Amino acid sequence: MLSFKFKDKVLKAIADRKIDSNEELNPLIEFQLSKLDTLRDFVSNLKIYLNLFISKKRNVSKEYEEIWSAKSLENEFGDLKKLLSSNHRNFHRIKYRGLESPRWWFNSISLLMIEDVIKENNFDEVLEIGSGNGINLLYLGQIFPEIDFYGYELTSSGVQSSQNVKNNKEILSNIKKYFSLENSDTNEKELNNLKFKIQDVRNKIDHPISDKKKLVFTNLALEQMDKVYYEGIKNILNLDADEFIFIEPFREFQNPKDILLLKNKGYLSKNTSKIFKSGFKKDLFKFYRGVRKIKYAAGIVKLRKNAY
Ligand SMILES: C[S@@+](CC[C@H](N)C(=O)[O-])C[C@H]1O[C@@H](n2cnc3c(N)ncnc32)[C@H](O)[C@@H]1O
Repeated sequence: MLSFKFKDKVLKAIADRKIDSNEELNPLIEFQLSKLDTLRDFVSNLKIYLNLFISKKRNVSKEYEEIWSAKSLENEFGDLKKLLSSNHRNFHRIKYRGLESPRWWFNSISLLMIEDVIKENNFDEVLEIGSGNGINLLYLGQIFPEIDFYGYELTSSGVQSSQNVKNNKEILSNIKKYFSLENSDTNEKELNNLKFKIQDVRNKIDHPISDKKKLVFTNLALEQMDKVYYEGIKNILNLDADEFIFIEPFREFQNPKDILLLKNKGYLSKNTSKIFKSGFKKDLFKFYRGVRKIKYAAGIVKLRKNAY
């Protein structure tokens, strides 16, 4: 499997943790497993194996309506000092096979990877499917003001949360600083290149067909769509796009225990065999040194039109 190669120098430096000024945020730390770590692992494995044949019944729509109603971006990104402090950054740490990483690192790297792909190509439009509270597009929309971004999301509370912040210059600027690891002042503008719409991927996605060059991506959204995956992926691939990127926990990226855990949680545990489009080339990329999202791994699947 391939590792994603960052072309942009700054992005590469962040990915390789070589940015001196952010030394204290050092995203990746090697560590030795303590006895307590081993015990914790044992207990969590036991729980997984005891639940071997139980798959959690979920109501994803209800779960996420509640999540996005309760978690406002204004609260989360209101206090920049707190956001950039190493305490806050290092609050949630994920330990796996001797490598420890903070949770924010995964999101930053996903976004920086998408940013890199956009920089390499001249996309006119970028669509995110399962855009949640819009955080990814609220960041990307600022970096690429000349590109039109569309977020398609199941929940009305997610779409509402995105709309609430679209014109809030302070929160927008904090989101940008948080993900880019930059603390410099940027010209804060309202965004008029973002549209958020309610959409269930089980239904046809009504995005206009055009000559515009389009990128479609998902970030940890298919992971919530195990039950609707086959209809969902079909509708997504029916979109008239030049490139598709899925940053998701597909089976190919997991070890056998992770697959059980994903099943127990009612999360996506399928492989990428349904990701196919005639005239497109498919590649799978693992994350830098296998950095994981909490308890299971995610990876990148790219479908790229052969012509470019
Ligand atoms: C873990 S969140 C990720 C949100 C966002 N992509 C991010 O990176 O922050 C998953 C999102 O997928 C959405 N989702 C789940 N099922 C969906 C469906 N059938 N159609 C559209 N969106 C869906 C959920 O409502 C939720 O907002």
